[in-house]
Amino acid sequence: MRLIDLRSDTVTRPTDAMRRAMASAEVGDDVFGDDPTVIALEERAADLLGKEAGLFVTSGTQGNLVAQLGHLARGQETIAASESHMIIDEAAGHAVIVGTSIRALRERPDGTLDPVEIADAFRDPSDPHEPITGLVTIENTHAHSMGQPLSVEYTATVAAIAHERGVPLHVDGARFFNAVVAQEVSARALAGPADSVTFCLSKGLGCPVGSVLVGSKDFIWRARRGRKLVGGGLRQVGILAAAGLVALGDGPDGMIARLADDHANARRLAEGLAELDGIESAGGIAQPAPGRLDPARVRTNFILFKVRGDRAAFLAALKARDVLMVEYPHGAVRAATHHDVTAADVDTILQATREVLRETAGRSAAAAGART
Ligand SMILES: Cc1ncc(COP(=O)(O)O)c(C=O)c1O
Repeated sequence: MRLIDLRSDTVTRPTDAMRRAMASAEVGDDVFGDDPTVIALEERAADLLGKEAGLFVTSGTQGNLVAQLGHLARGQETIAASESHMIIDEAAGHAVIVGTSIRALRERPDGTLDPVEIADAFRDPSDPHEPITGLVTIENTHAHSMGQPLSVEYTATVAAIAHERGVPLHVDGARFFNAVVAQEVSARALAGPADSVTFCLSKGLGCPVGSVLVGSKDFIWRARRGRKLVGGGLRQVGILAAAGLVALGDGPDGMIARLADDHANARRLAEGLAELDGIESAGGIAQPAPGRLDPARVRTNFILFKVRGDRAAFLAALKARDVLMVEYPHGAVRAATHHDVTAADVDTILQATREVLRETAGRSAAAAGART
């Protein structure tokens, strides 16, 4: 049986069109700035998001890191969401490499930070005790709130607070195009208020490697220097950029518009899961209301939930049926839909989950019986 891998949208394999484009890509030495395919990708990304320039980087983590290097001076501070990838999952690059601190604010269940709290979190630059606030970041889509997309209006509100205080706004848009498609807005409109945005090619857009950082020409020059510093200057990397150009294309091989299919599959999967006894709300900011999983929380390609009983046993039993999901923080399970998960797969996944829940419920009942 074919493996259905829902652990992440990073597991996608490049499409045939990407493989063809990669095989025939025109390349040069990108550190000299003369790889035409990389240049074309950076220009395409900048144009799509309405910014002056782009920078091809190896990963979302590297994009966020070099964005910080481009925006911040040592000893400054970034305001960010406490469950954001930049704080939890980037090996403290802000501290180790950028030399900055982070002021973490608790996010709300819609993935946003309270604008009043953002304004209050700015340090007093006239007080020599305090770090100087140098950057505000938001994550769009916001992973831990079950992939909530953040709106143009919210992005503009946060940007205004930051800009009034002379500070830029960076968007960690690892799944930026999921937010664009889910809200039926243009990438330009959603990126407009921000000073910089990173988005990943290697997640829902299906590419094997890479992310792009966009912003002003000056900022991208500083980020390019930062990329060199962290060893991210690559040579004939047009081979990889070629896949990105396919993904960002308007034609039938383009990967942006089809993200709507992933969202529809995720919603249908959540609706099915919500009916199963043993599948429960993930709690926390993913779904504050206890009880059944609420499919209305699924607005992009993430489903977060808890299972009654042993989570590891649940995942192992699913794996035995060729369906992979993954443990997520706070005791949850994540299932992410993507290009390699079809609408028909949703039925297979639901059937496998139903069987597993029945099997694990049977086992717990037997164990309880043995104890009495
Ligand atoms: C919200 C968010 N930002 C950044 C990243 C980092 O991307 P990468 O794995 O390419 O470094 C991820 C990866 O999952 C992510 O979910």
